[in-house]
Amino acid sequence: MGVPFRVPRSRANETHFRMRAEISAALEPILFGDYRHSYEIRAQLEAAFAREVGARYAVAVHSGTIGLFLALRACGIGAGDEVISVANSDISTTGAISQCGARPVLCDVLEDDYTMNPALVEALITAKTRALLPVDLHGHPANVKALRTIADKHQLKIIEDAALATGARDHGAPVGSFADVTMFSFAPFKPLGSAGNGAMLVTNDDGIHAELRLLTGYGYDPAGDITLGYQNYVAEGYNVPLDGLQAALLLVKLPKLRAWTAQRRAIAAALEEGLADTRALTPRFRPEAEPTFRSYAIRVNCQAALHRELREAGIEAVIHYAPPIYHYTVYAAGLPGADNLPVTDMLARQIVNLPVTPELTADEVNYMTETTAKLLQGLQG
Ligand SMILES: Cc1ncc(COP(=O)(O)O)c(C=O)c1O
Repeated sequence: MGVPFRVPRSRANETHFRMRAEISAALEPILFGDYRHSYEIRAQLEAAFAREVGARYAVAVHSGTIGLFLALRACGIGAGDEVISVANSDISTTGAISQCGARPVLCDVLEDDYTMNPALVEALITAKTRALLPVDLHGHPANVKALRTIADKHQLKIIEDAALATGARDHGAPVGSFADVTMFSFAPFKPLGSAGNGAMLVTNDDGIHAELRLLTGYGYDPAGDITLGYQNYVAEGYNVPLDGLQAALLLVKLPKLRAWTAQRRAIAAALEEGLADTRALTPRFRPEAEPTFRSYAIRVNCQAALHRELREAGIEAVIHYAPPIYHYTVYAAGLPGADNLPVTDMLARQIVNLPVTPELTADEVNYMTETTAKLLQGLQG
């Protein structure tokens, strides 16, 4: 570990320290009591999270990566199918589609908020298309309500990747409300982070929920007769539930999510205002969208230099989701749609993510704004 950043991406460790008594009290029964307590805690987290996002069902799983795969499987996506998604995301998004045997088809994104452009989706739909997989990039809600209209017209499912958007809302409802299944990641550095891996899948659909329970629980018949003395397997499932320690930590943190989201928004608003007179372009949102800011993704024409100089100034800037996914060796054979992504390609050359973590002080946010503005004055391009 080098010198800590003056403005870091995360201060979760400090928050955990402040919540130490509560966290320890939640972890102790799992570590020192009956291990089955952890199943109960996981169920409590699922119920609390479902309430928080207004969903009927929530299923806690080991990671967002496996969560997206299971969500697609539970929607019946398989060999020969096509799923329309975006190229400015994590490999997990397209990887989950391919691992189901389906093919990712790439759609370009909006210049304003960097999410899937609904106006371009219909042209990509073929007889093989089964689902849309939009991503709430950087915590910006994709326009899933608009995508819903297209999906319903063509009888497609929507699996929403809200890995970065826990706490965000759109059209007056929590993100995920217009999708068939939504995945929220709990990896560290996410708006609601665990101390390891984790994710939640939420749905209002009885059939999708039943399929998720089957797939996440080894594939044994949940309604099976236990008095038989053995469990009857009705599917080949996986062993991927969220572990009890992470569930206990998240259950303690979940009630703070709204306050943390408000703080993230306040930091983003300060950055927007402070950078208004600079050459940086800041994200713009539909009036109904209420993002949570996993980071603040500005656009500049001196991406590499600004990124480097910000870090030298103690600000933990990163460049997220660039290059676009189709650049990677694993996709060297090509992905459909990859040759027509002018906005995605442009954003990948421009985005610099400024750190947003709820614990940042007003002085630190000022320092970040002033430093960014000053560096931009000195940089070419
Ligand atoms: C947009 C997006 N989708 C999916 C994932 C995968 O989530 P996880 O890290 O929980 O597997 C990530 C992780 O960073 C992500 O950024």
